[in-house]
Amino acid sequence: MESFPDARTELVGLVGHPVAHSLSPAFWNPALRDAGRNAVFLAFDVPPEGFAAFVHGMAGVARGFNVTIPHKLAAYQICTDRSEVAEATGAVNVLVLGPDEKIFGGNTDVHGVTQAIAALDVDARTALVLGAGGAARAAVHALNAQGIDVAVANRTDGRASALSERTVAWDDVRQAIGDFDLVVHTTSVGLDGRTTVLDVGALRTAAGKNLKAVLDVVYVPGETPLVHAARAAGIRAEDGLRMLVHQAAEAWRLLFGSAGPIDVMYAAAVQAAGRAAGGNQA
Ligand code: ATR
Repeated sequence: MESFPDARTELVGLVGHPVAHSLSPAFWNPALRDAGRNAVFLAFDVPPEGFAAFVHGMAGVARGFNVTIPHKLAAYQICTDRSEVAEATGAVNVLVLGPDEKIFGGNTDVHGVTQAIAALDVDARTALVLGAGGAARAAVHALNAQGIDVAVANRTDGRASALSERTVAWDDVRQAIGDFDLVVHTTSVGLDGRTTVLDVGALRTAAGKNLKAVLDVVYVPGETPLVHAARAAGIRAEDGLRMLVHQAAEAWRLLFGSAGPIDVMYAAAVQAAGRAAGGNQA
């Protein structure tokens, strides 16, 4: 592109609250440039009470958005049309704004979780999902699709039982993790880079029982506290970076009609996260 951005530049982005921690602009924009797309990706911090007005106001302005905490369920509600996976999960993490007030909702988190679990390379038959928001719905759907038995634990118990027949009480999680092959953490705890719902002592005990791997859908520059604790306990662990990039490449497909350049996106995300090169394979 000669002079970019210009008067024809399209807008895509991310809507969340908060979004200041997000790596998405740092890997979307290099990927857009690499693909020769005249578009920019911006992050918008929109509180829940402003979400619907923001999305409707962007009709005709933006092509669409990735959606993150805490809007994935509200995004589901606002759509006029949804993908099958979005219908099945009840959560939407991609909004495509069409003409005539049409809003299409997709869920590419399911694809992202599936890829991240595959990268852990463990033979998991049972999994405990921590949390019951939009990311948890995607995780439950992805795990069920692989034939893995799922239980859900959430701070607010009622939300866990709405998601899964099998639940674990939040106060029992530290003891219960040893009964599962895999833990998928989807709450917002850890976004501050300091707190973790599971400490190394609980993880070490669980490692002596069944627990083989932890997927933390949170990502922060460096290691999340949960991934750090899991690795210290000798458990294979992966944070949300790979999931983030895989869901983004599929979001790109919904927005632009072809899959995003995953390797460019992943390499830029790894660099933006301040990680060492070497694990650059998405
Ligand atoms: P998303 O849709 O992106 O998953 P969300 O719907 O806001 O975001 O869900 C956030 C999840 O983090 C919920 O499971 C929430 O638990 P509640 O249902 O009890 O609110 C969980 N969560 C947030 N803060 C938490 C905390 N301090 N301790 C435990 N769980 C927490």
